[in-house]
Amino acid sequence: MSHLQTENLTYIYGAGTPFKITALDNININIEKGDFVAIIGHTGSGKSTLVQHLNGLLKPTDGKIFLDGENIHQSKSKLFDTRYRVGLCFQYPEYQLFESTVYKDIAFGPTNMGLSVTEIDERVRKAAKYVGIPDEMLSKSPFDLSGGEKRRVAIAGVISMEPEILILDEPTSGLDPMGREQILDLIKNYRETTGNTVIIVSHSMDDVARFATKVIVMNDAKVDLTGTVDDIFENSTHLQDIGLSVPQITEVFIKLREKGYPVSEKVYTVEQGYNELKRLFEGSVNND
Ligand SMILES: Nc1ncnc2c1ncn2[C@@H]1O[C@H](COP(=O)(O)OP(=O)(O)O)[C@@H](O)[C@H]1O
Ligand SMILES: [Mg+2]
Repeated sequence: MSHLQTENLTYIYGAGTPFKITALDNININIEKGDFVAIIGHTGSGKSTLVQHLNGLLKPTDGKIFLDGENIHQSKSKLFDTRYRVGLCFQYPEYQLFESTVYKDIAFGPTNMGLSVTEIDERVRKAAKYVGIPDEMLSKSPFDLSGGEKRRVAIAGVISMEPEILILDEPTSGLDPMGREQILDLIKNYRETTGNTVIIVSHSMDDVARFATKVIVMNDAKVDLTGTVDDIFENSTHLQDIGLSVPQITEVFIKLREKGYPVSEKVYTVEQGYNELKRLFEGSVNND
């Protein structure tokens, strides 16, 4: 049984109006416990709409979503439960932060879960520490923070609910390279220490190649491909056809191969590239 599954999931914005847009068209995906899933696809392909269904925020126009085999819309209490078990961090942190202080924003989820004041306080401090928000920042207004800090507060607000499935919609967009590395390390660490499932919507193929155990490619409201990093990036021409790219390091190795160097094209991370070059050079030394 899948941990999280969609069955013929369809969603139409503005259904019944002349402006209707089919944002999801018959989506079937399966996510297993502990998976690190990357959802990729061009802008407007339906990624944000899809993840907003996975925690029950949007209700399908058609089709079903199952969490551990149970339809998340089967009852009010099931839906309520799903919102805490599947934590969603929005694409734009501004949509998620609305309280007067950082503390209250991080406490929002645990408060709604009905935890005691002591438990809430513990959760807030633990989550803030986890994402690197210092104590003195807790009394600040979230609107006085930098882009990177806002993002971290938004992530802390979801982590504080200790979700079994953590979903992050483009968590590194708009950040500088160092800010991006920090957020990615944090997410990687969350998965490794908790063993929980993580789903990331990402634009960065380089990041996807480094972390994902499973990749879902969206194109025009449909799932175009699913598979491992190898399965997906092997199809470099197809990815380009649907407005995506392969990791930069893969492009380098494709070019090297075109120029006649006997290197593998299946190089998706800098580390793999390093090993491949080492193999090539050591090989040529031995042959000489
Ligand atoms: N609130 C909305 N109202 C109407 N259309 C929307 C809304 N949000 C998204 N859409 C449309 O739905 C499609 C999918 O959007 P979205 O899920 O945001 O894609 P992505 O996250 O891949 O960029 C796009 O055509 C977009 O314009
Ligand atoms: Mg989006």
